[in-house]
Amino acid sequence: MTLEEKLGQLQQLDGEANGNFRPEHLELVRKGLLGSTLNVRGAQRTNQLQRVAMTESRLKIPVLFGFDVIHGYRTIFPIPLAEASSWDPSLAERSAAVAAQEANNVGLRWTFAPMVDIARDPRWGRITEGAGEDPYLGAAFARARVRGFQGTDYSAADKVLACAKHWVAYGAAEGGRDYNTTDLSENTLREIYFPPFKAAVDAGVGTLMSSFNAINGVPATANAFTLTKVLRDEWKFDGFVVSDYTSVKELINHGFAANEEEAAAAALNAGVDMEMVSRSYNAFGPQLLKQNKLSTATINEAVRRILRIKFRLGLFERPYTDEAAEPNSLLRPESIRLAREIAGRSMVLLKNERDVLPLDKNVGSIAVIGPLADDRRAPLGWWAGDGKEENTVTPLAGIKGKVSAQTKVVYAKGCDVKDESTAGFQEAINLAKQSDVALVFVGELAEMVGEAASRSSLDLPGRQLELVQAIHATGKPTIVVLVNGRPLTIGWIVNNVPAILESWMGGSQSGNAIADILFGDVNPSGKLPVTFPRAVGQVPMYYNYMNTGRPPEAENRYTSKYLDVPWSPLFPFGYGLSYTRFKISNPQLSAQRIETNGKLTVSVEVENAGRRVGDEVVQLYIRDPVATMTRPVKELKGFQRVTLQPGEKRRVEFVLGHEHLGFWNREMRYVVEPGEFRVMVGSNSADVIETKFEVAAKQ
Ligand code: GLC
Repeated sequence: MTLEEKLGQLQQLDGEANGNFRPEHLELVRKGLLGSTLNVRGAQRTNQLQRVAMTESRLKIPVLFGFDVIHGYRTIFPIPLAEASSWDPSLAERSAAVAAQEANNVGLRWTFAPMVDIARDPRWGRITEGAGEDPYLGAAFARARVRGFQGTDYSAADKVLACAKHWVAYGAAEGGRDYNTTDLSENTLREIYFPPFKAAVDAGVGTLMSSFNAINGVPATANAFTLTKVLRDEWKFDGFVVSDYTSVKELINHGFAANEEEAAAAALNAGVDMEMVSRSYNAFGPQLLKQNKLSTATINEAVRRILRIKFRLGLFERPYTDEAAEPNSLLRPESIRLAREIAGRSMVLLKNERDVLPLDKNVGSIAVIGPLADDRRAPLGWWAGDGKEENTVTPLAGIKGKVSAQTKVVYAKGCDVKDESTAGFQEAINLAKQSDVALVFVGELAEMVGEAASRSSLDLPGRQLELVQAIHATGKPTIVVLVNGRPLTIGWIVNNVPAILESWMGGSQSGNAIADILFGDVNPSGKLPVTFPRAVGQVPMYYNYMNTGRPPEAENRYTSKYLDVPWSPLFPFGYGLSYTRFKISNPQLSAQRIETNGKLTVSVEVENAGRRVGDEVVQLYIRDPVATMTRPVKELKGFQRVTLQPGEKRRVEFVLGHEHLGFWNREMRYVVEPGEFRVMVGSNSADVIETKFEVAAKQ
């Protein structure tokens, strides 16, 4: 390979928004100077560009076509934060597999997913894209999504190369402001932010994407500690790293490089192999070589990593896509059914006073109200792939399709999500007054979550809360359904409205899934993967906090809390209700004492004490109350989703071992320290039964 051909493999360029490649791309590919594109898609288009690479370029190295298939390509599944609410990684594996099949059929062989960033700050719009605040749950979903996208062999005709992103700690952005500074200890990096990436690497993910943020003063896109010491030397990752969109050139904005030449050297030398969209590598690679600021070995290693993945992807053997398969590959009935099933298992019942829900399908009349009752775009979330609004089943449509022919369903938008007008209130109030029950759909627009969507407030935007209050004031039974992509501060609604369903942005089939739950065909079973704060001023707020020297005591002023809100969350991590009732009791341990490398089985009895079949997510937490570093008051180390018939009891078991009980100490070693450990098991992080055991020093 010539130097130019090598540098060409390190270049990814952006196609047109509609999926077309650009004329320049044809020229570059013909000369063997473009290794990858993003956003170019459609079997006919990718084949056209690929044919130039495979028949006209000198070395016939295939182009790698990438796209953001985050939670579906055309069949759009619930946002990842919603899927994480199912606490069922197998569902995420299945949805990723459908996404891979659809993406592959339109010529894509690489998705920039899963996003596995831990997020403890709901002001950050990208909390919507991940699996929430916990590293253990996040790791489980990272593993599942990589397996779903890649399978065991991502050269298969229905698989794609995955990309764990954004490496790393992107979710710790200061103030929840996207792209902002992260400053955190190596212990916190290793305990909280690394685990989902390690799970993805261990699951065989082929690529990672470096993030926009600076980590402790060194931008992630030029950070040799994360990109080489951890990723390569410790984890033995042998895939390749792509930068985020122009994040190489942005090293100049960071003040980490004086110009593109320095930016190129910094990123390549640190371990970013492919440059997304900016062209610093190609523009300055040759002179950096001449000036010995870059070595041939470094360039060769980056090219080798990329070609290794292209070979594993089977691109050389199967560079083209079967254009005949494309039309029948999208929105298959089984894919749509899966989208509905996953949405139904991802939604979280937050409140259901006096069992207001489920509703009777034969109820006389229903007022469906709110700006998100019939919105086709919001349920698809920010990263809607090539999802089409016309394929979205809205809540209004889902409800109409669910109730009996005799039931009268009326609709009023009431207000918009964003603007300040209340002109539509009266119509909504009138319809509510004429109906037996009012369902109010409020939340966020798709543009309010995802990238560059940080919010300084977590309140319902616009006049939506007042709309809910106005409908509630009619005295009619009022149920609120949230359509949103992040935790919201909904205190008034929680205090006054009898039933609340967190539907998230539930994908193409969200309206059907909402109706399935509201009318009892599906028993809600979701659990929050993120803490819901009472006020944005409490943020960052998460369940696995440190106890501090003055843990909060309501009666004692001089303890860690607020004057103006209770210190506790509105809803805790792991919280979610069901239409039935579960009891968790009788914890048993297989031993009272184990050695530091020993194992322990913890079991509890779970009973369905209600009258409906349902799923409970049994959660296991530990605490190391005394250690050589402060440890969280609890850490999730196991969860199991069990389906129980009414009256059924089952003993659920968890195994705890070295990998669960240790932490990274001050010498930066992963250790299990002898002493007491507490075990907590429950239906959410705040409602647990506790027992304890001893870890003894190894004899
Ligand atoms: C964006 C996002 C990243 C995405 C990439 C390509 O800026 O940060 O998640 O995969 O660019 O669209």
